[in-house]
Amino acid sequence: MQTVSVNVSRPYEVRIETGILARAGEEIRKTLGEGRIMIVTDDTVDALWGARLESSLTEAGVSFKKFVIPHGEASKNAQSWLALLETLAENAFTRTDILCALGGGVVGDLTGFAAATFLRGIRYVGIPTTLLAMVDSSVGGKTAVDLSRGKNLAGAFHHPSLVLCDPGALSTLPEEVFADGMAEVIKYGVLGDAELFEILKDRDHLPMEEVIRRCVAMKAAIVEEDETDHGKRKLLNYGHTAGHAIEARANFTMLHGHGVAAGMVIAARYAHSIGLCGGGIIEEIASLVRLYGLPDASPYPASELTETALRDKKREGGRIDLVLPERIGSCVLHRVGVDALPAFLSGGAV
Ligand SMILES: NC(=O)c1ccc[n+]([C@@H]2O[C@H](COP(=O)([O-])OP(=O)(O)OC[C@H]3O[C@@H](n4cnc5c(N)ncnc54)[C@H](O)[C@@H]3O)[C@@H](O)[C@H]2O)c1
Ligand SMILES: [Zn+2]
Repeated sequence: MQTVSVNVSRPYEVRIETGILARAGEEIRKTLGEGRIMIVTDDTVDALWGARLESSLTEAGVSFKKFVIPHGEASKNAQSWLALLETLAENAFTRTDILCALGGGVVGDLTGFAAATFLRGIRYVGIPTTLLAMVDSSVGGKTAVDLSRGKNLAGAFHHPSLVLCDPGALSTLPEEVFADGMAEVIKYGVLGDAELFEILKDRDHLPMEEVIRRCVAMKAAIVEEDETDHGKRKLLNYGHTAGHAIEARANFTMLHGHGVAAGMVIAARYAHSIGLCGGGIIEEIASLVRLYGLPDASPYPASELTETALRDKKREGGRIDLVLPERIGSCVLHRVGVDALPAFLSGGAV
């Protein structure tokens, strides 16, 4: 088992082990003691992995209930949140009881927000089942639901009490959802872990526990320094400025990681154009994202991305912190005005 301690205001552990899902009941009981559990999951994950979690809870003598949402981002809304709170109340859950998120980031964000708000805050355990949820949303304490005007508009910071990552659960992920998570994994490599970047070049022999541990450890270190997202945490946005513009231009029909992959290459091109890094880094990143079936360029011209990005950024007050690579394993924050966006989004070509 690989363990990462997340030393935030309320410290917790992320335990990573193939097969840990079958022992989840025991892990939860040993770490969190008594308490009933409300499993929150989506219909797809429930059908694939629900029984395994339930039998482990039964074996450990933990009593539980289950709340299932339809899979997909559309379920991460205020109606699901309210229905979950009502279910907790109907079942007389108390502050000694525990929510358990079995699923991807959608289930994780919804469960975390319900845990943050029910009785002004109860404990929750994360059991992420997508790669993205394991390496990104399981650490950091950001919880939220979407409102009709946009994503994550209602939320809270509320850390889980325990996270259990079972890389075995990734075996049932559709290929493109796995690739989606790999974009974030590659991001961590460029951001601060050149060894991880090297490991990823051998796609057929990925040591998944090790890969996940490295990502979680890096996110934990950054979050520990900037728990409420006012500074260093911005580094985690590497690839996301251009990535968001691409996603938005595609009316969010493109998977997040696919936009981020192209966004990382665009940011490297721009970094090279202003003399921050050598040119070789561009092709290094581009070939690694291609290895995982991810795009290395935007399907839209830079002018269209600029239009989309300007609409968003103007609303945010005009200054942007670009995250730019200096070399594989190190990125810096680079503050610019919105007028630099056309050059940035065209990778320095304007
Ligand atoms: N809180 C944070 O810090 C944070 C960070 C990044 C993303 N997010 C949020 O996470 C969400 C995206 O997460 P996601 O990509 O995990 O999406 P998701 O939860 O919708 O999962 C993607 C799809 O995969 C299915 N699935 C999940 N696990 C599976 C498995 N093991 N086998 C087969 N299918 C499986 C799900 O049913 C779903 O259809 C977004 O809402 C985003 O805002 C949050
Ligand atoms: Zn992301």
